[in-house]
Amino acid sequence: MPSVFIKTYGCQMNERDSEAVAAQLVAKGYSLAKSEAVADVVLLNTCSVRDFAEQKAINKMKNLVGTAKKDRPGQILGYMGCMAQSRGKELIEKLPDVDLVLGTQKFHRVAEYIDDLIAGKRAKIVDIDAEAKSEATIREHLLNGSARTSVSAFVSIMQGCNQYCTFCIVPYTRGEERSRTIPDIVAECRELVSRGVREITLLGQIVTSYGKRDPSLITHHSSLSPFVQLLDAVHEIDGLERIRFTSPHPKGYGDDLVEAYARLPKLCESAHVPLQSGSDRILKLMHRGYTREKFLGIVEKLRKAKPGIGITTDIIVGFPGETEEDFELTLSLAREVQFDNAYIFKYSQRRDTPAAEMPDQVPQNIREERNHRLLDLVNEIAARKYDGFIGRRVEILVEGPSKKNAARYTGRTRCNRIVLFDGSARHQGQLMDVKIERTGSFTLYGDPAVVNL
Ligand code: 5AD
Repeated sequence: MPSVFIKTYGCQMNERDSEAVAAQLVAKGYSLAKSEAVADVVLLNTCSVRDFAEQKAINKMKNLVGTAKKDRPGQILGYMGCMAQSRGKELIEKLPDVDLVLGTQKFHRVAEYIDDLIAGKRAKIVDIDAEAKSEATIREHLLNGSARTSVSAFVSIMQGCNQYCTFCIVPYTRGEERSRTIPDIVAECRELVSRGVREITLLGQIVTSYGKRDPSLITHHSSLSPFVQLLDAVHEIDGLERIRFTSPHPKGYGDDLVEAYARLPKLCESAHVPLQSGSDRILKLMHRGYTREKFLGIVEKLRKAKPGIGITTDIIVGFPGETEEDFELTLSLAREVQFDNAYIFKYSQRRDTPAAEMPDQVPQNIREERNHRLLDLVNEIAARKYDGFIGRRVEILVEGPSKKNAARYTGRTRCNRIVLFDGSARHQGQLMDVKIERTGSFTLYGDPAVVNL
């Protein structure tokens, strides 16, 4: 059978989609190639969130087309995912050697389409149509694909986003919010746990809005939001040790979710709370639906409910109209909150989004400069926080050998920090305590204080 290589750009949802596609192909008898150079089929699973991510995938495809012509005639080349969804057939018009363009609601069709292309039944396929119930089709797992995935797995709970932040292309690439049912999600989680998974991360573009648009999916005699009802149901699974989720929206951290952190021992004390900006004026232009005060209130509530909770964020610098004063409000908020880590993005104009048409686009050099200033600040805060772990004993879930140094094993703390230690295969999948001895850049180095055999 032919072999396939999938290269993934972008977020964890994309990683998960690629994994499900790979599992689907393996189930149909395809093999997974070690590299694109030896594959019969190469698929790029793309990201559209910033222009940079799109350019990377387009350049990669140009290179693939070049080598395929020279060395591998007959190699099937395809784009999948977000950029495929937003650009559609334009991608083949630009690069006529591309065979397949597959949107975000069509991942479950990959095998069928590749079969047709290989058999010569069809010459080119572009399918970016909407498909009802496609949110429930990302369910196959490849648990033996890597050491990490056998301990920790991602489960897609919903697709799409209706928030329409003015900078964001996601509502156009992922569509309207659609959620899977609680029994369907729980069944998938149970199956994973029965195969050895101990940590599950629930995934979606806006997980805190889970079930809000599908009232038939959830129980109405509960005062809890559908997302917290789902957390409760997943929490019941015996053998599951840890639950995480991403990505949430700050407005989703209602009292019921904040209380869930205190109430549900398996829910890890780690919260991603995407800020985007510390200026109320910019937050409004972004259509974020909260203010600086509200955001600070959420962080305070979370820290009160779960002291020591790890709080991470996303921030955009150089949104249209952002002045030096607006940017300084972001700096001061970052100083006030002391994020454990922050992902900083230079604003990138995206097609079809309102912000792309807004006046006062910020010059590229100022975006760069603000990026550096904010990065310096968040790195300094993060490093101090990491140093605060030295001498402490923390529980880690061991994922497997470190990619860089196979003699070292890697695990994660409950608040989602990576810990490296001298371990061996018997540690894999174990929850164990380590004492933190030193820190590196975004890494803790531990010594097993108590080894659970
Ligand atoms: N430009 C820059 N960053 C963006 N993000 C989303 N859209 C854009 C854009 N147009 C960032 C946000 C989001 C993260 C996943 O990507 O910070 O939280």
